[in-house]
Amino acid sequence: MTRILILTDYRGTFYSTARTRHRLCTMDVDRITAHFRRAGLEPEVVRFADLDLNEDLRGVPVLYTSSEDHGLHYKSWIEDLVLALEIAGAQVIPGYRYLRAHHNKVMMEALRAQLFPDDTRLLRTRTFGTYEELAATELDGPWPKVLKSAYGAGSQSVARARNRKELLHTARTLSDSHDGTEAVREHGRRLLRRYHHARSLHRQKFLVQEMVPGLAGDYKVLRMGERYYLLYRRNRPGDFRASGSGDLDYLDMAGADREALLDYAEQVSDTLGTPLTSLDIAFDGDRFHLIEFQCLHFGTVTAEKSTGYHIRLDGTWQHVEERCDIEGAFCEAIVGHLGTHRPGPPGRSPVTPAPTWSATSLPSTY
Ligand SMILES: Nc1ncnc2c1ncn2[C@@H]1O[C@H](COP(=O)(O)OP(=O)(O)O)[C@@H](O)[C@H]1O
Ligand SMILES: [Mg+2]
Repeated sequence: MTRILILTDYRGTFYSTARTRHRLCTMDVDRITAHFRRAGLEPEVVRFADLDLNEDLRGVPVLYTSSEDHGLHYKSWIEDLVLALEIAGAQVIPGYRYLRAHHNKVMMEALRAQLFPDDTRLLRTRTFGTYEELAATELDGPWPKVLKSAYGAGSQSVARARNRKELLHTARTLSDSHDGTEAVREHGRRLLRRYHHARSLHRQKFLVQEMVPGLAGDYKVLRMGERYYLLYRRNRPGDFRASGSGDLDYLDMAGADREALLDYAEQVSDTLGTPLTSLDIAFDGDRFHLIEFQCLHFGTVTAEKSTGYHIRLDGTWQHVEERCDIEGAFCEAIVGHLGTHRPGPPGRSPVTPAPTWSATSLPSTY
């Protein structure tokens, strides 16, 4: 039987759902293990702190949760462990790069530039590690532009800048990283030292990109294996941002062709090559733009509140009515992925795990 590890956090949580259980938004790990057993797998639930990196985990599939903790301290530890697992040859799902891009728009954009160069060129995203780097940069292209902190969800740290002055003002606030002592010391050095090269007090990374004009909302597509769940999100009133508006529509796709949207989502998620993807997609009346992608630990409302999903059958999109069983859909996606992505034979060089994504090497369906 194939062993599969499920790594949970210090509160015993794994991913999230729209349901809360004892005030924790977690998938039901018991249901996940039951589903896997029925599929002939041998699941083992382990807390990150109990993970034994000395064990031979070559080729072992590992599912793991992520974290959006304030300051991302806990997430940084998860990143250490997952990278170590990947180096050890475990089949981490999704690969480390996608964990790094979770709750980190700067990394997500860096990956996007590799995976979707044409899309990326249209938005001309520039990322910055300090406010000072932005202040020293002349940006091309039209205004307004969109500014995003690396962290944050539900549009909290996404803003519009109508001109350079507004951009610098907002970027200064978004990137502020200093605490009182650091600022006092640094200002002292700047005053007293003769040759002092100023250290930035604005080191929260962020990005600037073109604004897709005229959007009234965006589309959320959740792909779980072969199931595609869709919804349209209208912008908040008088705002350019849709994420977090809560104004959701599962039926009316606001003028976009549903099949074209599904084709685009399929192409994007095939390129990502992971069994689970959450996509934010914009449609400008002519073409689709990928605004955001996440491959783990994303919100699941799109699936859980749906009345059914879309699936490609014999080349055409079909809608299947179904009340979503989120753990069931999750496990089916993972089992399907394992069926088509078997790890290489043990003994392969442990420091060069095979890439889990490639636009050219992946099958078009899981
Ligand atoms: N480049 C852009 N052009 C136009 N609207 C955008 C752009 N980027 C983001 N938005 C809008 O802002 C919202 C939030 O952006 P997003 O990057 O998805 O951040 P969050 O993680 O907060 O959801 C999106 O739902 C979309 O409506
Ligand atoms: Mg978003």
